[in-house]
Amino acid sequence: MNKTVIVIDGGGRGAILVETYLKSKKVKKVIAIPGNDLMALNKNIKVFTKLKTTDKKEIIKIAQAENVDLVDIAQDDAIAAGLTDELIKKGINSFGPTKAAGQIEWDKAWARRFMKRLKIPIPKYKVCKSQNEGIEFIRKQKDTEWFIKASGLAAGKGALYAEDNNEAITKIKRMKDFGEAGKTYLIEEYLNGEEFSSFAIVSGRKFGIIGHAQDHKTVFDGNKGPNTGGMGCSSPPFAVNKKVEKQINSIFKKTIDGLIKIGRPYNGILYLGGMILGNSKVSVIEFNSRWGDPEAQVLIPAIKNDFYNLISSASSGKLQKIKKDNKYRVVVTIASKGYPDDYSKVVGKEIKGLAHMLRHPERSEGSPKIFGAGVIVKSKKFIASGGRLFYVLGEGKNVALAREKAYNALSSISIGGNNLHYRKDIGYRDLERLKRR
Ligand code: AMP
Ligand code: GLY
Repeated sequence: MNKTVIVIDGGGRGAILVETYLKSKKVKKVIAIPGNDLMALNKNIKVFTKLKTTDKKEIIKIAQAENVDLVDIAQDDAIAAGLTDELIKKGINSFGPTKAAGQIEWDKAWARRFMKRLKIPIPKYKVCKSQNEGIEFIRKQKDTEWFIKASGLAAGKGALYAEDNNEAITKIKRMKDFGEAGKTYLIEEYLNGEEFSSFAIVSGRKFGIIGHAQDHKTVFDGNKGPNTGGMGCSSPPFAVNKKVEKQINSIFKKTIDGLIKIGRPYNGILYLGGMILGNSKVSVIEFNSRWGDPEAQVLIPAIKNDFYNLISSASSGKLQKIKKDNKYRVVVTIASKGYPDDYSKVVGKEIKGLAHMLRHPERSEGSPKIFGAGVIVKSKKFIASGGRLFYVLGEGKNVALAREKAYNALSSISIGGNNLHYRKDIGYRDLERLKRR
């Protein structure tokens, strides 16, 4: 028990990662960059909340000073900035793809062309480089639904739904709001189906599927409102049956082999976002080069392997067989009212009831857990400081019991003026299925 791990992340995904590394028999110390104030309540976790995940120089300095054994790069912007490449150059052991392999996430136009070449099932799409190009294209199409997406990283908010051609033109004009990330954008055929995400641990040519989840991307119940980073997840989703899993496996294999073929071998967690269409056919919405947030909060607790062993083996080319429990998990994202748009009036307000929840985070097996993100601690008070504030995880034998745990825990938490927002319908698809059985 003498290993030191750095986790590059500041949100709820980072919170479950640091907690899980600390449970490993091998790990003595975990450093989170930037981490957050709720992580720092644990004396064994050191955080650098002022540091940017893209500050490669400073991160390398810390890794060398602490003589770390592993750097787990969990956040997309660090991968896009080439942090992995720098760590490799310095001989520091890391888990996460290089900038070239990570292009599968940070450049959606590149990723679509790559998937098309490999004949991976995807929606019809067009890559556009100017407003006019997109508008002229839409004017020639029959009136229908679309997705307009910024090609670069946009914190999960860069994909805009359009219910008809007119709205598509409005959404094309909004691409400029994403700055550099929206300079190139995609117009995609709208796919109507059941969404899911799947996660594989990848080590060069070898990979193992860890599990599947269903995120709830829009801000309001019933899948209404703008897209967010994710408002809650449930796992394992009933919709991912054997027939779907077979396709997922084949898509992962094609992708991982395809990356090797173009000289960009992948190491790290690979995230496949997919849609199940009629007749259980899978179409790929996107790949991400990391765990999802909050998917990680429902998937990582299911893993029974010693987490440090699992990840450090993968980082050195050896893949362990993944062992998992069979619990159902539901995580609910708690956000500031106004998120993903303007939530500035909530920032600085006190979150009441959280202290009680945190006092006994591991009271007993199966009790709800909190993972912090946009919360700061000031004079022992918990203060809202971001859009997604924290996450509540419940687990149980089935979706109903897991939901009950998570939602019951929430009843005593509030922000003055009714400023707490969360979806009440996380896991609704499997809940309906459970009731019908
Ligand atoms: P992305 O940024 O590509 O992950 O897209 C964000 C979300 O928008 C996805 O998780 C889907 O819910 C939705 N989405 C993106 N592209 C499409 C599409 N072509 N058809 C239907 N939904 C989509
Ligand atoms: N929850 C979606 C994402 O992490 O991209």
